[in-house]
Amino acid sequence: MTVQEMQVPITTLSWNIERLTRVLGDLAKAGEAAKLFRRIRDAHGRLVTLVEDMLSLAKLQEGAFVVARRPTQLSEVVRKALRSIEGEALRRNVHLQRSADPRKIPLTLGDPERLTQVVGNLLSNAVKYTPRGGTVRVSLRQTQEIAPPTVVTRRRQEATASRYVLCSVEDTGIGIPKDEQQNVFQQFFRGRKAVATNEGGTGLGLFLVRTIIEQHEGAIWFTSREGYGTTFFFTVPIVNPYAGEASTNPRR
Ligand SMILES: Nc1ncnc2c1ncn2[C@@H]1O[C@H](COP(=O)(O)OP(=O)(O)O)[C@@H](O)[C@H]1O
Ligand SMILES: [Mg+2]
Repeated sequence: MTVQEMQVPITTLSWNIERLTRVLGDLAKAGEAAKLFRRIRDAHGRLVTLVEDMLSLAKLQEGAFVVARRPTQLSEVVRKALRSIEGEALRRNVHLQRSADPRKIPLTLGDPERLTQVVGNLLSNAVKYTPRGGTVRVSLRQTQEIAPPTVVTRRRQEATASRYVLCSVEDTGIGIPKDEQQNVFQQFFRGRKAVATNEGGTGLGLFLVRTIIEQHEGAIWFTSREGYGTTFFFTVPIVNPYAGEASTNPRR
């Protein structure tokens, strides 16, 4: 079975979960049934992410991984990604916060589906690697630079845009040990502490996230302290940074 073919039964599953919820009506909303439905939806959500990641990797290997950029509102992307992780965060008692005034965030030149995959992956990691009672916060703001001067990015030299939207995903989780920090973007890499949590994972998420951000001519980096938490940052160029304000004219 190819990864593409796996999407069909997963979609069928999704339809039928929703239909069953409707057929059962109030029965599906109460007590034990509600709990079971939540678990089924969570498991389904994880399967979707897993297959999406595998599909992206397969496409990448075939050279068919396309990033189609158009004017994109990142706060919309964040909203979507947050919605799909809400259930899981609630179940794990991890508080989700967002701090952004959507009106002040300019349009970026991005592929909304791919960027949703990026934020989704970062949020999924943050929630997965944060113990109960912790907090995950997503923020958006405008910035002049592709990345802070201390961050090594091969995009810096060729950076053409002078303005970016910076997105950060901050958690109060297990953190990434110093000696593992240079490996997290590698294909299939999974940290010791991450594996020890018994959370499922392929080690593909951050590799894809970085690939997608590089194709957007942005940068990605993080800061982390073992036992205290991690913050991932990424930048995406805003549309037509020289026009003084967001325009609907996609470049490239
Ligand atoms: N928010 C985070 N907190 C702690 N560790 C993280 C976080 N995000 C990523 N990591 C580390 O980076 C590794 C790679 O992440 P990823 O590529 O998403 O793979 P996976 O989540 O499948 O393990 C993880 O196994 C973990 O060690
Ligand atoms: Mg992951």
